[in-house]
Amino acid sequence: MVRPPLSPPARRPMAHTHIVTIERHILEEELRHPEARGAFSNILRDLSLAAKVIARQVNMAGLLDILGTAGHQNVQGEAVHKLDVFAQDAIYRAMDHTGLLCCMVSEEREDFIPIPEKFPAGDYILVFDPLDGSSNVDVNVSIGTIFAVLKKVSNHERGSLADCLQPGSRQIAAGYILYGSSTMMVYTAGIGVHGFTLDPSIGEFILSHPDIRIPNPPARSYSVNEAYAARWSPGVRAFVEHLKEGGGEGYSSRYIGSLVADFHRTLLKGGIFLYPSDRTNPSGKLRLVYEASPLALIAEAAGGSASNGRESILDVKPTSLHERTPLFIGSSGLVTMAEEFVARESQS
Ligand code: AHG
Ligand code: MN
Ligand code: MN
Repeated sequence: MVRPPLSPPARRPMAHTHIVTIERHILEEELRHPEARGAFSNILRDLSLAAKVIARQVNMAGLLDILGTAGHQNVQGEAVHKLDVFAQDAIYRAMDHTGLLCCMVSEEREDFIPIPEKFPAGDYILVFDPLDGSSNVDVNVSIGTIFAVLKKVSNHERGSLADCLQPGSRQIAAGYILYGSSTMMVYTAGIGVHGFTLDPSIGEFILSHPDIRIPNPPARSYSVNEAYAARWSPGVRAFVEHLKEGGGEGYSSRYIGSLVADFHRTLLKGGIFLYPSDRTNPSGKLRLVYEASPLALIAEAAGGSASNGRESILDVKPTSLHERTPLFIGSSGLVTMAEEFVARESQS
């Protein structure tokens, strides 16, 4: 029996293995910033290396003698966790010798950190919170690192305070690393916000969330520590009550107590995160230079906004490195609504 010729196998659609590493993506981004001359991509690449080192330590935290406090307090008067120290050192060592930075600002150091004389100095400043939400380390809740890059404005070879106290609108890049169920690095160079997920099996951050935009309409979600409600100003209390009464339909409350995790959810789902000032913290708790301003750049690049209740966070010029600020960040409509409630109280 003559068999009919076999028909060629049906062509299976090619699996899309279009893998974009963060290094590749940053190089492509850099083409949009010709003035950055490679520094920009090298800074973000070196940061991604530090992120991998910290991620490994965070993921092993329960197994190494790395949990708990380091036995001293930081400039904020807060107990320093061992992972805070580890993250601080990991970022410092990844960045101190590259010749790209003139100085750094860290939540864990009182003064700005000039690049040591033994290394060449560059034109950029890195500001960072090495480990955000560190009080959550011991209970395995997501924590993060927050960073931003500024360009030197002084003629001091190894930077000056003036270089570090620039308004957030002067940031040329900002981002965070979220050590959660997966490790993600999210950054913006001002145009678009992009998310990368670490594939630990190959040690690469792979583009997983291109062009993140805060959804509109946003999720009906607000994020605040309501334990302090009695200490808030009347306007902030009225705003949160308005959302709770539904502001139309009901809102749900989501609060992790880890800024990077709370912000990441707000960025992907919409809604608003707020850490307002209160009678006990008249300037709020969160720091302007290395927490609010970097996240504000990301929120705006994703179509959202960030305010201190009266003006855009990005317009606020810091007067000191560890200055605190109230923060309302997320979907623009909700941030504007919060500002209106705050404005109304000051008229009453
Ligand atoms: P850090 O761990 O860098 O000091 O930051 C902690 C911050 C931030 O992660 C979070 O939004 C906030 O503390 C939570 O504060 P409360 O515990 O007062 O809600
Ligand atoms: Mn923090
Ligand atoms: Mn911190």
